[in-house]
Amino acid sequence: MDVRNRIKELKDKIENYNYAYYVLNEPKITDKEFDDLIGQLKELESQHPELITPDSPTQRVGGKQESSFKPVAHSIPMLSLENVYSKEEFKGWWNRLEKNLGKDEKIEVAVEPKMDGVSLSLTYENGILVRAATRGDGMIGEDVTANARTIRSIPLKLYSETSFFPKQFEARGEVYFLKKDFELTNHKLIQKNLKPFANPRNAASGSLRQKDVSMTLGRNLQFCVHSLGALSLELKISSHSQFIETCKAYHLPTLGNGLKIVKNAQEVCEIYEEWFNLRASLPYEIDGLVIKCNPLHGQKLLGETAKSPRWAVAFKFKAHQAKTKILSVEFSVGRTGTVTPVAKVEPVECAGVVISSISLHNFDEIERLEVQIRDTVLIERAGDVIPKIIRVLEHDKNSKKIITPRECPSCSETIFNEEGEVALRCLNPSCPEQLERGLLHYASRDALNIEGLGEAIVHELLQKKLVQDFSELYKLKKEDLLKCALFKEKKSENLLKQIKESKSRPFSKLLFALGIRHVGEKLSKILAEHFTHLKNLMKATEEELLQIEECGPIIARSILNFFKSSQTKKLIEKLEVYGVNFTEPKISYQKTQLTKKIVVFTGELSSLSRSQAEELLIQCGGTPSSSVTKNTDLIVCGENPGSKLKKAKELGIMVIKEEEFLKLVNKNSVN
Ligand code: IVH
Repeated sequence: MDVRNRIKELKDKIENYNYAYYVLNEPKITDKEFDDLIGQLKELESQHPELITPDSPTQRVGGKQESSFKPVAHSIPMLSLENVYSKEEFKGWWNRLEKNLGKDEKIEVAVEPKMDGVSLSLTYENGILVRAATRGDGMIGEDVTANARTIRSIPLKLYSETSFFPKQFEARGEVYFLKKDFELTNHKLIQKNLKPFANPRNAASGSLRQKDVSMTLGRNLQFCVHSLGALSLELKISSHSQFIETCKAYHLPTLGNGLKIVKNAQEVCEIYEEWFNLRASLPYEIDGLVIKCNPLHGQKLLGETAKSPRWAVAFKFKAHQAKTKILSVEFSVGRTGTVTPVAKVEPVECAGVVISSISLHNFDEIERLEVQIRDTVLIERAGDVIPKIIRVLEHDKNSKKIITPRECPSCSETIFNEEGEVALRCLNPSCPEQLERGLLHYASRDALNIEGLGEAIVHELLQKKLVQDFSELYKLKKEDLLKCALFKEKKSENLLKQIKESKSRPFSKLLFALGIRHVGEKLSKILAEHFTHLKNLMKATEEELLQIEECGPIIARSILNFFKSSQTKKLIEKLEVYGVNFTEPKISYQKTQLTKKIVVFTGELSSLSRSQAEELLIQCGGTPSSSVTKNTDLIVCGENPGSKLKKAKELGIMVIKEEEFLKLVNKNSVN
């Protein structure tokens, strides 16, 4: 047999064993035998590099690959789904479906679990995987082909007995974590002193979008197809279930027996109960069901709204609740000195996440709940929402009252209840825990944006006393960083570069970074534009501050107190010596249709953060606002909009989508 044929035979064999192992879950050979086959193929390919093709199983991670994340325009938008949360709401959706489909159509829906991961589009051309893209904003996603190739259940080449492949075949599906791999990943991150993922969905998204592709490989991501994208016409697919069957035949992973075809709403509700009861014992997380009109002609008839198809709905599970016991209460100090009680509880799984500590917010909350140490409590967590204590279920005879501390748990200074406030506060500006949180805020994206200055490194810099206030970041040298466990040459150089770049950010960013109480991002911008230089703001009197509409007496007091402190004065002097910029550049508006318009953002934006969007708007001379009134000119609507959208519709205010907004501000994508 010639080399070409031997290579083909090996590739087919490996791809089939891979399919048996990763898709069917039925290993046919041992790991060693599999590795031997890969070894033989590698050997032949190294002797004949001209015969290496991208669909070769040896190319899942070929060398040290880096992903490009280039923008990819989806040929058909990747929409999201409307949610319903109860049987009543679901029946409402079903009735609308019946009405919109008309009398002549018999309803037939596909019912599937809703996988809790991130969506991914796979495009095969003539059977070969050519592109994998994230959803992005639905119109434009990111190219993550190199990452997707490392997911072993994704075939690099579709399977066909006849060797016929459509010219184009786009399958969309979910990348997700197995619960056990999620635990393992978080365990490894914690061991390396890195922040664990909050839930399997974030973990899937973060792991898929790794620049270093070998990191994605190590996370053991899963994939299953759930919907169709762009298909060549020759395929003649007429229903969702037929599409899924086609995917199965191509050896793509699907939801398997998870898909049921159903003809009435009651049956859907029964399936909902079944999955709800199964949920905890499943090896992966699901957060509800997806119900889709099965025939494609029905889908076409029903069409879609701007955001979601009328032919599908997500029937979400209710929030998860769990019972646990309070073991102790600790007190943490925030960056502005607020002391927050945090309950340490017996670890318990709730909505797919193991909870071991829960914030009690403040001491009034402790009184309201009448909660004590050793009480059994009911906790709740909906999706990725922070867990909270709902109520006490049982007092223990040994329950112990939670004592309000008098001293700061970090620096032992006396703590105070400031007038009119429920929170206790540590007023010592050198308090170590405050400084740690403060530094993280200083470096955060919306402040001075020092990429790479995360929790682990900040903690270590403080422990090693390499940094004792914000300004000392600017005296760090490579040798200092190399003393820290996580830092190697390249990483140190990158961080130093980022720190240096942060010196030239506008004054508004520095002001926000300083973390003055009550001075948020928006007010920092207003103050910086008004005073133009930090030194002017430092000299401002109470009257001058009060002339600014957004600045009331409490805020003015807080600003004056901050700049009065000798510690602040010393810090500002040092920042000046290190060459940190204190001025705000003059804004020259880019005249667009948004100039002089009052704009409200609602829902989650996918390609930029809320503050980036507001900044783009301000650059066009528009004004961001947080509430919808009759003066609002425009609403920019992201994913899962809240009540603002409803109000805007009632008031007849124009609503646009994120991508239209990006066009108006002359940005098609934000990097
Ligand atoms: S169908 C038009 N089916 O849920 C949307 N989506 O909020 C077609 N998802 O972005 C998607 N499991 O990533 C569909 N069985 C399933 C799903 C599913 C999870 C995700 C999907 C989508 C999100 C909708």
